[in-house]
Amino acid sequence: MNILDFARRKRAQEKISMVTCYDYSSACVLEQTDVDTLLVGDSLAMVMHGFDSTVHATIDMMAMHTAAVRRGAPGKFIVGDIPFLSARRGTTQAMDDVAALMRAGANAVKIEGEAGQLDLMAHIVESGVPVMGHLGLTPQSVEAFGGHKVQGRSEGQAAAIIESAKRLEQAGCFALVLECVPEVLATSITEQIGIPTIGIGAGPNTDGQVLVLHDMLGMNPAFKPKFLRHYANTREVITGAVNRFHDDVTSGAFPSREESYA
Ligand code: KIV
Repeated sequence: MNILDFARRKRAQEKISMVTCYDYSSACVLEQTDVDTLLVGDSLAMVMHGFDSTVHATIDMMAMHTAAVRRGAPGKFIVGDIPFLSARRGTTQAMDDVAALMRAGANAVKIEGEAGQLDLMAHIVESGVPVMGHLGLTPQSVEAFGGHKVQGRSEGQAAAIIESAKRLEQAGCFALVLECVPEVLATSITEQIGIPTIGIGAGPNTDGQVLVLHDMLGMNPAFKPKFLRHYANTREVITGAVNRFHDDVTSGAFPSREESYA
C-alpha cells in the first residue's frame, strides 16, 4: 500500500482497512495479516498508558511507538497521529513533530480537525508529507464536545463538517477519517469528495473502516459502543492461559522434565 493506492482504491470502489497498532509485537503479527494500513493513533495514551483521554499523548510517546511499529511491520503503510495541540504551536513546532514521526518510520501523519490549521496542513503536504484528515468526533477536542458524543446530528453541524471535508481535500489530504457521525452524513461526504473516507462509527458507506485493535480483539469486553464489533475475546483467552499457568506452577505440574535442562 502506498499513497497512490488510496486514490486507486476509492476509484475502484475497493474498501480500505486500517487498525491501530502501538507496539513491536503486535506489529509483527499485523505484518502477517491482510490489513491495509496501521495507525499509530494517539489513542495509545489510553490503551497503552492508561490515561483517560488522548490529550496525554506527547510527540515523544508518538515517535517511540511509531518506531516500534515500523520495526515490527516493515511492509505496512503506517500513519502516525500528530498529538494534542502539536498543530497549534506554530509552523516550526508542528514541522518538528511531523519530522519526528516521519523519521520514526511513518509514511503519513494524521491531524485532527480543520479550523485554524488548513494552511499548516497544506504546508505539510507541500513539504512532501502525506496528511490524513480527521473530522467528526475528534477525541483531542473531547472537552469542547462535552464528552464522546456523535457529531454532525444537526443540519448546521453536518453542513459545517461537509465544508471542512471539502477544504481538507483542497488542502491536499490524501484520505479522511470520519469518526462517530451519522451514516447519512458520512455517505454524503464520501460521495462529495474525491479522497477516500475511512470511518469509525460512521456507517457502512465510507471508503474504508478503522478500529482500535484492542477494542476489536475484545481486550475489554465491557467496552462495546454501538459501532464496535468484537472479533475475538482476547481477555478470556489471556486470563484463561495465565490462570492455567498459575495452576500448573502452584501444583508443580510446570515445568515438566521435558521442559527442564539435564
Ligand atoms: O487514535 C486513534 O486511535 C484514532 C482512531 C480512532 C481513528 O484516531
